[in-house]
Amino acid sequence: MNDDDAPKTAIDLCSIEEIGIATRTHLQNSGFRSLKDLVVRGPVDIAEATGMDIEKSAILCNRARQRLEDAGVLEKSFVTARKLYNKRLSAERISTGSRNLDTLLGDGGVETRAITEIFGEYGTGKTQICHSLCVMVPHDRAHGGLGGKAIYVDTENTFRPERIVSICSARNIEPNHILDSIIVAKAYNSAHQELIIDETGPIIDSNEVKLVIVDSAVAHYRAEFLGRATLSERQQKLNKFMHILLRISETYGVAVVITNQIQSSPDSIFGDAFRPTGGNVVAHTSTYRIYLKRSGRNRIARMVDSPYHPETEVLFSLSEKGATDPQQY
Ligand SMILES: Nc1ncnc2c1ncn2[C@@H]1O[C@H](COP(=O)(O)OP(=O)(O)OP(=O)(O)O)[C@@H](O)[C@H]1O
Ligand SMILES: [Mg+2]
Repeated sequence: MNDDDAPKTAIDLCSIEEIGIATRTHLQNSGFRSLKDLVVRGPVDIAEATGMDIEKSAILCNRARQRLEDAGVLEKSFVTARKLYNKRLSAERISTGSRNLDTLLGDGGVETRAITEIFGEYGTGKTQICHSLCVMVPHDRAHGGLGGKAIYVDTENTFRPERIVSICSARNIEPNHILDSIIVAKAYNSAHQELIIDETGPIIDSNEVKLVIVDSAVAHYRAEFLGRATLSERQQKLNKFMHILLRISETYGVAVVITNQIQSSPDSIFGDAFRPTGGNVVAHTSTYRIYLKRSGRNRIARMVDSPYHPETEVLFSLSEKGATDPQQY
């Protein structure tokens, strides 16, 4: 059952008896539109919005989850491995435009209901892959897409509609439909980035969004929280942000793709003396982590962390077509 089939009553805030008119108004004023928002934003935000204590807010959150489970929107708390396996066999994917990269990611591209993190040095193609995914997602399933739209949270001012048009023309795709399928949100600082993500749920539902990109997830936090003294606050905020992204991916059934930079790692003895920024918080929340590296004119993509992929690498290229395979041009 997909979200559209779920009974409307299971989604509306009012379908939980603990939510009276006053509570609903408080929630709506803080951007909660549906039960999905309660699950995504969690008890602390609910408590802040309503003035309830945290225990009551947690009960509300659990009730919302239960309703969504009953409606088939969310996975039940207890489920057999076989059922999970069958569900995984039909996991939905969005092509990157490069067959090699799609293979690395698991036969078809980035997966819905998961966070895929792409990290690497400047100019290695993180933003290019994000643009390519935006071009692919509106296509039907037979052509690498999911017939849906993309939300592009641009924190570094590097989203370029011209690049979307140039990828489309190199791939013989009519660009206007693709441009109409990308919803861009520019985030000016970390607080703005958090606000945008809090408002993302209703936009996903009303626009049939299948892909949420945050390019880059960590840059504002790195720029704003400098020095050791602010490290724990930074990690706390980043942790919350990443967990909201994870719950968005699960609750709304979308693919989440984040980009991340690397920093030099002085304690590294073997291999690359670099590691992605954001520390354990980003590492533990991302489902798949892809490391990009230059290799002459091409790029190497390595799957460095996945619950089921071996650590393998592939070669891909950046061309007018966006992300492609080296032999494609
Ligand atoms: N139209 C194009 N045709 C071919 N290659 C292109 C084109 N546009 C960009 N590129 C390639 O993409 C590279 C930039 O990649 P991208 O912007 O994705 O880097 P990034 O990994 O996001 O870097 P940063 O960390 O600075 O954000 C350029 O160096 C160039 O090689
Ligand atoms: Mg970039």
